[in-house]
Amino acid sequence: MNDTLVLMEGIDKRFPGVQALKGCQFNLQRGEVHALVGENGAGKSTLMKILAGIYQVDGGTITFKGEQVTIPNPHTAQTMGISMVHQELNLMSHLTAAQNIFIGREPTKSFLIDENTQNNKTKEIFELMNLNLDPTMRVSKMTVAKQQMVEIAKALSFNADVLIFDEPSGALTDVETAELFRIIRQLKAEGTGIIYITHRMEELKEISDRITVLRDGLYVNTVNTRETSINEIINMMVGRVIYESSPEIPEERSQEIVLEVKNLSRGNELKDVSFQLMKGEILGFAGLIGAGRTETARAIFGADPVDSGEVFINGKPVHIKRPSDAVAHDIAYLSEDRKRYGLCLSLDLKTNIVLPIYQKLSSVLGWVKDKRAYTISKNIVDQLSIRTPSLEQKAKNLSGGNQQKVVVGKWLAKDADILIFDEPTRGIDVGAKQEIYSLLNELAAQGKSIIMISSELPEIIRMSHRVIVMCEGRVTGNLDYSEATQENIMKFATMRNGGNAKKSAQPS
Ligand SMILES: Nc1ncnc2c1ncn2[C@@H]1O[C@H](COP(=O)(O)OP(=O)(O)OP(=O)(O)O)[C@@H](O)[C@H]1O
Ligand SMILES: [Mg+2]
Repeated sequence: MNDTLVLMEGIDKRFPGVQALKGCQFNLQRGEVHALVGENGAGKSTLMKILAGIYQVDGGTITFKGEQVTIPNPHTAQTMGISMVHQELNLMSHLTAAQNIFIGREPTKSFLIDENTQNNKTKEIFELMNLNLDPTMRVSKMTVAKQQMVEIAKALSFNADVLIFDEPSGALTDVETAELFRIIRQLKAEGTGIIYITHRMEELKEISDRITVLRDGLYVNTVNTRETSINEIINMMVGRVIYESSPEIPEERSQEIVLEVKNLSRGNELKDVSFQLMKGEILGFAGLIGAGRTETARAIFGADPVDSGEVFINGKPVHIKRPSDAVAHDIAYLSEDRKRYGLCLSLDLKTNIVLPIYQKLSSVLGWVKDKRAYTISKNIVDQLSIRTPSLEQKAKNLSGGNQQKVVVGKWLAKDADILIFDEPTRGIDVGAKQEIYSLLNELAAQGKSIIMISSELPEIIRMSHRVIVMCEGRVTGNLDYSEATQENIMKFATMRNGGNAKKSAQPS
C-alpha cells in the first residue's frame, strides 16, 4: 500500500451543538479520483477541511505518505502538498484574478511585487486550463462560473500531490465541467490524488475510480465505481428509497397573464426579450451560460437598469426601478449567488428566513412577532429538512447545501405572487431536491407563478409547464412541456444570431 497518499482513521469532530464527524475513515491513493458523497450536512466539507488544515480533529489520526501528521493550518497543508478548492467562493472581489491566485506569495523584484511575472504566470495556468480570461480582470466583474475557475486555477498553482475539489461543478456549466474533467484526468495520469465532492450523481460514473459515502457524520462504505450503481450509492447516502416527484402539469392551464415582458433590451446582454408568465405556471428558463437568463431576471426585479422595454403585471404597466419596487409588486427573486445576494451569513437562521417579511411582522407586538418568526422558520426548517442544531444557528455555520435551503425557504415564507428562482437546487442533495420540486408544484397549484432558471436540463424538463430558451441575450424558443426535449432545447439554446423565435407554442 505504498501508493497510499492519505489515510484518515477514527476522525471525530464536534462543533457547538453538532457532532459533525464520528469515527470517520478515508483513504486516498496516488493517481486516483476518489469521490466523496452524502446528503447536505453529512460532514464531507468538514472532513476535507481537516485534511486541508482548516479544522483540527477532536480525535483520530491522519497519515500522509506513510507518516502520522498533524496539519495545524492551511499553510502547512499547502507546503505538504495538499490543496483545496472550496465549496464557497473565497476570492477577494476587489483584487484581480492574478492577485487572488498569488496572494501571500507574490513574486517580487527588488522588494516590490512583480505584477508582470504574476500576470504571466497566471496566464500560463489559464492556458493550461483552456480558459480565456484576463489575469488582470477584477473578480467582482466575473460571473460565479468564472470565479470558480479562478479558484481552481489557484489550487492548481500549488502543484499539489493531493487536490480536493469541494463541489466544483455546482457553479459550472457543462462546457466548463468538461474542461475541469479533462484537467482532472491529466493530473491523475501524473499521479496526483484527487478528492471530488459532488451532488451530481451522473458525474460519479464519469470521473471517479472509487466512492466513499458518509451519512450523518458516519462512515458508510467505500466502493469501486465500476462495481456499483448510482441507485446503490443513493441508498447508502440516504438510507431510504427516494420518491422521484413527477411533473404535475394541470390539465386545465390558466390563460390569465400575470407577468408580461415586452422588448426588454440592454446593450449586448438583452435583446428584445419578450415573454408571458401565466397564473399557476412553472416557466422554465433554459440556455447556456451567458444566454441572458440571470440578466433577464435581474432586470425584471429592478436589480439592474435596462435601456428599453416594458413590464406589465396583471395587465398594468409597472415601473420597477429597484428591488424594493419589485417586492412591493409581490415579486420575489432568489439569486444564483447566495453569498453575495441571498444570505446574511453572520445572522441566525430564523432572522434570515423572516427577513423578507420583517416589515409585515414588525407591525405586531414584540413577543407575538418573535413567536410568529419562530413558527414560520420552524415550518420551513421542517419542510426542507434543514440540518441545524437550532433556529439560532448562524447561517455561516451551516453546510453549503443547507445554506441554499435557507435561501429557498426565505422566499417561500415571503408568500409572493411571482417567484423567480435562479438555480434553486444548486448544491442541494438528491433527496432534498425532490422536496423542493414538490414545494414548487404545490405553489403552482395554489396559483403562484414561477420562473425557474436552471442549468440542469433534466430539472427544466421535469418541472416546467413551458420552457423559454435563450441564446446570446435573445429569446430563441418557447416550448410547451410536450415539446421540451433535451434535443429541442439544445437546438434553440445554440441558435446564434437569433434565428426565428418560435412563437407557436403558447399554452393552449
Ligand atoms: N463552523 C461550523 N460551526 C458549527 N457547525 C458547523 C460548522 N461547519 C459545519 N458545521 C456543521 O457540521 C455538519 C457537517 O457540515 P459539512 O459542511 O461538513 O456538511 P457537507 O457534507 O459538506 O454538506 P453540503 O453537501 O451541504 O455541503 C453540519 O451539521 C453543519 O451544520
Ligand atoms: Mg459541503
